Amino acid sequence: MASNGIKDRVAIIGMGCTRFGEHWDKSVDDLLIDAAYEAYESAGIAPEDVDAYWLGTMGSFSGLTLSTPLKIPYRPVTRVENFCATGSESLRQACYAVASGAYDVAMAIGVEKLKDSGYSGLVVGQAPNDGTLGNITPPASFSLLAPAYFKKYGLDPEKGKDVISRIAWKNHRNGARNPKAQFQKEVPLESIKNSPKVADPLGIMDCSGVSDGSAAAIVVRAEDALKYRKDPIYIKALSFIAGPGEGPMSPEYDFTTFPEVVASAKDAYAQAGIKNPRQEISMAEVHDCFTPTELVLYEDMGFSPRGTAWRDVMDGFFDLEGKLPVNPDGGLKSFGHPIGASGLRMMYEMWLQLRGEAGPRQIDNPKLGMTHNLGGAPGRCVSFVSVVGRSLG
Ligand code: COA
Repeated sequence: MASNGIKDRVAIIGMGCTRFGEHWDKSVDDLLIDAAYEAYESAGIAPEDVDAYWLGTMGSFSGLTLSTPLKIPYRPVTRVENFCATGSESLRQACYAVASGAYDVAMAIGVEKLKDSGYSGLVVGQAPNDGTLGNITPPASFSLLAPAYFKKYGLDPEKGKDVISRIAWKNHRNGARNPKAQFQKEVPLESIKNSPKVADPLGIMDCSGVSDGSAAAIVVRAEDALKYRKDPIYIKALSFIAGPGEGPMSPEYDFTTFPEVVASAKDAYAQAGIKNPRQEISMAEVHDCFTPTELVLYEDMGFSPRGTAWRDVMDGFFDLEGKLPVNPDGGLKSFGHPIGASGLRMMYEMWLQLRGEAGPRQIDNPKLGMTHNLGGAPGRCVSFVSVVGRSLG
């Protein structure tokens, strides 16, 4: 299989992101307009300067969802969907479109408005199937990672709960420094540990929230980027992998890894030329839909050797001041997860951090950032990994 990548061929020249949260007073149209216009302004261009659009959303079915509110003058708008990695998928398509030469300027934009839709993690979202997929909620499905990991690596349940609680504590601590997050308060470790149970051992505070939001990126070929601004960021890798979906049926699958994430991280590192992610990646935004997901991802992405991520968590390795800050913006834990927007919200943090604009969350001199976005459930998912950097080469 060839996966040649587009290292250093595409740059992001502007981004926008709404505050995530309960937007009772705004429609999907309003959220799209807010994110798109912030991105146009950030890139210093007008709507008519964008040749083509990719819209990530699970809530509607065509490009009209974007072209109508933006009043785009007869431009191609493609609506994409790829589970919870939908926002990242829109970025991937827009980048490939400009890299191919088909368009000069493209926008990737994602949106979801969940709060007033009745959406909840406590409702089983499974489409009718042959009965082999089970019938469980997202928190229940991801909760299976925790006891599997604890048992495999010798953590008693109480120690294991300390570890996953610390992940939530870290992400809320980062989110408290972010004016665009849904939850902007630090949460004491004890409150996290004792939060009402949702799917044992997960409590409410181990779950991402439910929110509304939108985020957008404008991309051009790297050779054109400096015409727009002096500090673009460059795409080093974009990898997307869909698994065979057989985990829940397979006796081999032990719920302590996402093979799709291992494969997409490996592919992305090869595209970007990264040999040692633990040393070379300055920061990452990862898909912390539930706290044990983030724990397992550390190992799948090669940030920690197998069986040791829990120690790194307790040592603060992934804290804002740690060696490899993860979810510096607060993650899904602080932002909630408006499906189509999340992947681009992760990239928005890279955009701020790599250009020194992350304010009280600013990481010291980051060079390479990574975003990871997954959709589905343990054993049956799709995974996206990007690597971005602040300079060419
Ligand atoms: N993290 C932190 N705080 C949360 C929270 C979360 N996940 N969910 C709710 N809260 C807070 C609310 O802000 C609110 O606080 P307030 O009383 O100070 O205003 C309080 O808890 C109650 O909020 P409410 O919206 O009534 O909670 P809920 O019980 O309806 O929802 C969950 C809680 C866990 C069910 C919901 O957050 C959820 O479904 N999360 C998972 C989403 C999911 O599965 N996504 C798919 C990922 S693959």
